[in-house]
Amino acid sequence: MSDIFTTRRPPALGTVLVDELEAMAKEKLKGYPNAFLYVFSSAGDGAAARANREELARWKIVPRVLRDVTQRSLKTMLFGHTHTAPVLIGPVSVQGLMHPDGELATAAAARALGVTYTMSNSATRTIEAVAAANGDGHRWYQLYRPIDDAITLSILSRAKQSGFTALVLTVDAPVSGWRPRDIGGAYLPTLHGFGAQVGLSDPVFAAALGEAPVLDVPAFPYDPARLDALFARGDERVRRVVRMSAEWTRQTYEGAFTSWEDLRFLRENWEGPLIVKGIMSVEDAELAMDHGVDGIVVSNHGGRQVEGAAPSLWGLQQICASPRVKAGQDSGKFTVLFDSGIRTGSDVIKAIALGAQAVLLGRPYMYGLALGGQEGVEQVLSSIISDLEVTLGLSGYKSIDEIRGKADKVLVRMS
Ligand code: FNR
Repeated sequence: MSDIFTTRRPPALGTVLVDELEAMAKEKLKGYPNAFLYVFSSAGDGAAARANREELARWKIVPRVLRDVTQRSLKTMLFGHTHTAPVLIGPVSVQGLMHPDGELATAAAARALGVTYTMSNSATRTIEAVAAANGDGHRWYQLYRPIDDAITLSILSRAKQSGFTALVLTVDAPVSGWRPRDIGGAYLPTLHGFGAQVGLSDPVFAAALGEAPVLDVPAFPYDPARLDALFARGDERVRRVVRMSAEWTRQTYEGAFTSWEDLRFLRENWEGPLIVKGIMSVEDAELAMDHGVDGIVVSNHGGRQVEGAAPSLWGLQQICASPRVKAGQDSGKFTVLFDSGIRTGSDVIKAIALGAQAVLLGRPYMYGLALGGQEGVEQVLSSIISDLEVTLGLSGYKSIDEIRGKADKVLVRMS
């Protein structure tokens, strides 16, 4: 599938191992540790993030041999669209922290590899600019629900006009998690993200804030040294943007999403698939079904929200064991996606065998972005997808459909 494997060319970034890419990104951003820590950080001491990986590691693949696996296909149908692989770009905020091209690079990389791009609501580029970079690629939009319905409607209409086909509502972040390693850098996402490009560039947001928007934020192109110097000196303009952005974020989001009933508003105002991200219990998965959503992302947000949270893969096992969820999946009316901790092709196989229809990636492609912009993201995507294709065949299967929900045949759990 990818050049990396078929031509055995050395990977552009020098390695395809995500842990090594993480260490290299840390080194590259060492003059700007807060940016690295924003991406790397998890809640508390990282127990939830570690648990995600540990639970994936407890499951092992039982390979089958002497089967014809010469023709392999990763094709995956989600919401009537054929995806080249069951691997998607998950929503990750403020990508301008990693590279000057930010979301434009990841959106272009996703298009180049035929991977679906999920744009975060907290991006450093506008909805329209990201859509343009993604071109004829396939894209979804992730929303944090604003308090003001006019703002929500403005976002939905811009997303629709810009060709985003599905809406992903994230529900596990009414506030940002307690991330001890990232407390010092908390101003960065505020400055780079919520207000600077997405929010204040929209006339509806500007009106909601009641102030003229400040658009010439000195953060782009990415120049961390200058930004830090300005901030340390107490440059009034930077402080004003931070204050405005923080105020805008507070006014726009704080206390916005309070009940399942609120989903009705989105259901009525979004025609495409509606997916709820951040579900970890059977009860919430079934409540999502009761409220007419088309799918969920089983996720603990990469261990960034609730320290001590159960591993995301455990949540997947519980949810896919629900007869209602299974019937919804079998009838094609309900889709179960998964994220948190996916680093390799075998991780993808485990999640699919345990019932997920596709997985989303978070940190791995952010490290690729930091190290190589668009090319770096392309390498991360193509290496995980190539690894998946090879490992699927070596396990004795030639298509994703053969393993979906078949954990009893494909996997064994070592306690
Ligand atoms: C995230 N995630 C996230 N999720 C979301 O719905 N909206 C967002 O804006 C963000 N922002 C964000 C920033 C950073 C730096 C990270 C690492 C993650 C969560 C993301 O979509 C996904 O759930 C996890 O990243 C998956 O875990 P892994 O792949 O990072 O282990």
